[in-house]
Amino acid sequence: MPRVTKPISDALNDQINRELESAYVYLAMSAWADGKNLRGAAGWLRLQWEEELQHATKLIDYIAGRGGTVDLKAITKPPARYKDLLDVFRQVLKHEEAVTAAINALYGKAARARDYATQALLDWYVNEQVEEENTPAEIIAMLELAGDTPPGLLMVDQHLGERSRAAPGA
Ligand SMILES: [Fe+2]
Ligand SMILES: [Fe+2]
Repeated sequence: MPRVTKPISDALNDQINRELESAYVYLAMSAWADGKNLRGAAGWLRLQWEEELQHATKLIDYIAGRGGTVDLKAITKPPARYKDLLDVFRQVLKHEEAVTAAINALYGKAARARDYATQALLDWYVNEQVEEENTPAEIIAMLELAGDTPPGLLMVDQHLGERSRAAPGA
């Protein structure tokens, strides 16, 4: 008898797909930025890809640990082209807002099912999404300040390149 119900594990499997889709989107964006010689942004986006993979594996481990079935689905193809770096981060923010909405809906489902263990797991995701929305919003503000000028863009790119594995949210 699994300790996670089918409706909850179904919903968690959908979330795994969203996290992997997020990872894939960031990987595509990173490759695009690298092609534009925006090495700082490329590195930032590559770290984000790794983070999203961790979000997915955390859910996979949870389902497995609660006796559920992990059911991986196809991942949507991400765009290969972006207008500019501002376009990239506007899409990041929009994407993360949609992920937050999905996590909130999932949380509601777990709450209605009185599945406290899943709610405890999802607390981590709820907290994580605050940062996942704040960071791109800050980067968008920086890019808007920098305007369309090459020196401004280079400065933002350099700032993004300062992000390290030790401080994933920075
Ligand atoms: Fe995520
Ligand atoms: Fe994310």
